[in-house]
Amino acid sequence: MDDLSPRPGDLDPIETASRDEIAALQFHRMKRSLRHAYANSPFYKKRFDDHGVTPDDLHTLADLAKFPFTTKADLRDTYPFGMFAVPQRDLVRVHGSSGTTGKPTVVGYTKHDIDVWADVMARSIRASGGRTGDMLHNAYGYGLFTGGLGAHYGAERLGCTVVPISGGMTERQVTLINDFKPRIIMVTPSYMLSVLDEFHRQGLDPRQSSLKVGIFGAEPWTNAMRREIEEAFDMHAVDIYGLSEIMGPGVANECVETKDGLHIWEDHFYPEIINPETGEVLPDGEMGELVFTTLTKEGLPMVRYRTRDLTRLLPGTARTMRRMEKITGRSDDMMILRGVNVFPTQIEEQILKCPGLAPHFQIELVNTGRMDAMIVHVEATESAANDAARDASAKELAHHIKSVVGVSTKITVHQPGGAPRSEGKAKRVVDNRTKP
Ligand code: DLL
Repeated sequence: MDDLSPRPGDLDPIETASRDEIAALQFHRMKRSLRHAYANSPFYKKRFDDHGVTPDDLHTLADLAKFPFTTKADLRDTYPFGMFAVPQRDLVRVHGSSGTTGKPTVVGYTKHDIDVWADVMARSIRASGGRTGDMLHNAYGYGLFTGGLGAHYGAERLGCTVVPISGGMTERQVTLINDFKPRIIMVTPSYMLSVLDEFHRQGLDPRQSSLKVGIFGAEPWTNAMRREIEEAFDMHAVDIYGLSEIMGPGVANECVETKDGLHIWEDHFYPEIINPETGEVLPDGEMGELVFTTLTKEGLPMVRYRTRDLTRLLPGTARTMRRMEKITGRSDDMMILRGVNVFPTQIEEQILKCPGLAPHFQIELVNTGRMDAMIVHVEATESAANDAARDASAKELAHHIKSVVGVSTKITVHQPGGAPRSEGKAKRVVDNRTKP
């Protein structure tokens, strides 16, 4: 694979600023942002007052811990626009969540917000190895989901030629990749696997494709999956993180030259890690729930938003801004089986160790008697699809999961194509437990 390290002069000055410079900028912006929220959003005014704090109580960055958290429930309770800090006429766009787990949530952007988003997204694509003049195939969904339009504006800002294909119609995705020869693809990692299948179905060698960089995110994925995709396409696979409440994609991104976790664009998004049970702020290096405070957002400033994503903060490497480790999972996706905490990413890692298994999977939760049990639905590769090979793969996977993750699972190895496919975010866990 090519060396895609940035050339001197490619980066924004803030990407190589000293920690002191970054902290000074953060403090200045945090103060301004808290004042803006307090003065212009009745929600924040009441929340801060109830908590006995005002923006004047912020004397250092660490004082942020005095301020109350916000959660997805706050956005739901104030649906649609109750947390916003500007009048609706000042918004140029809204995005939202699909609301599969309850009421949808809505987020809003001023013109300046969209501008900042395009900047951090352009920075993310550049960190991934993208450059002005590249053709970029954008298979994140366009619409209320932030993936498609967020990536689109950033790619244009960097000076890429965008193919705004959105998700779905996999056959056409592959046709256009072959016809247009993009250098970059942006898509969820699970959908990239469907694209890979389609390459094979059309008899094409993915390693011969024009793709050199994949920017994958919107769902958890492991380093084992990175190796799988990099090997299959002979390309760099880089992680991108974001969430609609804070902005959308482009809150943090890996650097292609190190691929060692995601640099958080700390000049716009201030991270904390907390103990999810007590809310206490944890020191860098400790695992916990990621919390973000926006530093420059106008339309919907977020103060100490609890993401439910579990990770830890690490010092900068390729950039001076801190990194977050690849996300282990969301606290909502954590399964507890006989006292053992299990995340889908741990299962993914074990599946990718088994040569007879394809990387598609879904986990089903069921009750057996009074106990919860887990069935891993996975599928055989073409060359290991007979009964004996499938049986051997099932045993191998059960053994890896038991010895590494520590739980007993039932494994169902389907025929090739038998596990569900994703066109966006994969649904990793299906809960078929009957409630007592
Ligand atoms: O998924 C934004 C996005 C689009 C990010 C495209 C990257 C690429 P939401 O739909 O609001 O926004 O979902 C946010 O998705 O809290 C995480 O749980 C998860 N997530 C996003 N990126 C990653 C990642 C977009 N790289 C939620 N690794 C977040 C693990 C991720 N989980």
